[in-house]
Amino acid sequence: MTATATAVALTLGSGVADAAATPGSPGVGDVYFPDYGNGGYDVGHYDVRLRYQPKTDQLTGTTTILAETTQELSRFNLDFALDVTSVRVNNRAATFHREGAHELVVTPARAIPKGGDLTVVVQYAGIPSSVKVSGFTGWTRTSDGALAVNEPESAWWWFPSNDHPTDKATYDVSVLVPDDVQAISNGTLTGGPVKELNGWDRWSWRSAKPQATYLTFLAVGHYDIESDTAADGSPIVNAYSTSLGEFDGAARASVNRTNEVIETEENWFGDYPFEAQGGVVAPPAALGFALETQTRPVYDGRFWRRGGNTYVVAHELAHQWFGDSVSLGQWRDIWLNEGFASYAEWLWSDHEGEGTPQELFDYTYASYPEDDPFWQVLPGDPGADKVFDGAVYDRGALTVQALRVQIGDEAFFELLRTWLASHRYGDGTTGEFIALAEKISGQQLDSLFDTWLFTAGRPDLSATTKLAR
Ligand code: ARG
Ligand code: ZN
Repeated sequence: MTATATAVALTLGSGVADAAATPGSPGVGDVYFPDYGNGGYDVGHYDVRLRYQPKTDQLTGTTTILAETTQELSRFNLDFALDVTSVRVNNRAATFHREGAHELVVTPARAIPKGGDLTVVVQYAGIPSSVKVSGFTGWTRTSDGALAVNEPESAWWWFPSNDHPTDKATYDVSVLVPDDVQAISNGTLTGGPVKELNGWDRWSWRSAKPQATYLTFLAVGHYDIESDTAADGSPIVNAYSTSLGEFDGAARASVNRTNEVIETEENWFGDYPFEAQGGVVAPPAALGFALETQTRPVYDGRFWRRGGNTYVVAHELAHQWFGDSVSLGQWRDIWLNEGFASYAEWLWSDHEGEGTPQELFDYTYASYPEDDPFWQVLPGDPGADKVFDGAVYDRGALTVQALRVQIGDEAFFELLRTWLASHRYGDGTTGEFIALAEKISGQQLDSLFDTWLFTAGRPDLSATTKLAR
């Protein structure tokens, strides 16, 4: 009797749960990219296991997502663009369908209670470079391999995810590739290259701190991998494409200074947030940009066409604090990444004896005439199509120097370190940054930030005596 009563209660309980379960939203509410990320769950870990053949660009994979629900879920979305062959959710086959080019809608066999474990196993295959979303693919083929490196969109072509920087997770990325190429990803090499099939090696990487989807990367190709250990015992792994040609020496002379740049930036920003470090230099012109992929930025080889360039290294490593450890709450807040990474180049310039931040402020300000369209882009709200506009970088850095001059060096560096420590491994918004700046400086800073971040036109320097020259 007691046993039967208990069974009835359990049945009723699960019936009630189903009735209250609702679909997770198809986006996290990003004002620029409303359908990026998904609602209803929070990912803790991704296990991405792939086989990749560079000759044909054939990718097959299984990604296992360990998540927890944040509502009672009847259904949920993943962001993904490749063809999916099966989805299992909590030990049951699930049904799934695509909506638009990058939404995968998954309906589990049973609703999942709020706060419950959500384990999703997705199997898939495809030719990522051929899968276009609005005419674009974030998967770049090279002559000897491929690069999964892009911002904001890069995961869609190689692993299903909750694709927004507000849901960070740890990662294992393990890739089987032909044994004449290397496969590099974030964090620490936990195994490999291990021969698993005739002519095939597995490379396994682990990134142990919370990491945004767009900061998770894969580089496959002919690379010379150099490993060392930092003073604190953490691994340094640098990888140089074997196709750098005449850029090879300058690239190595610059990326080999990664550990020195990190130690220097620690003096400004506080402890380096991650367990590994390094850099990957990709074939020249393959990407056309560098990206601050977590623990190990990826650089286009062309950054070294004119010799040594440690500024791009200082920029991407500054992002390990600004962007990677403290991520964007909204893509609209992109200046919090690019303005500060650009300002770190000015600090590095000072450190190298090549020009002070104020000299760089004066030079940058003067290099854009008053009628230049540059001054029409608002770093604090550039628009979804202009998140990487030059104004986000340069006017963002000008804003940081204007702030430093306004509040003084002591408050300025205390602000940077407090911001980074209090939001470490999380995210933050422009509004939160401004509030902290006012709190630490004891000054009312609305007009400074309004002028520099949110008002079109070239700010008048005579309004701030300390900036006027
Ligand atoms: N965050 C990168 C940087 O440090 C910019 C990436 C630009 N992305 C792109 N697809 N072009 O500059
Ligand atoms: Zn940047």
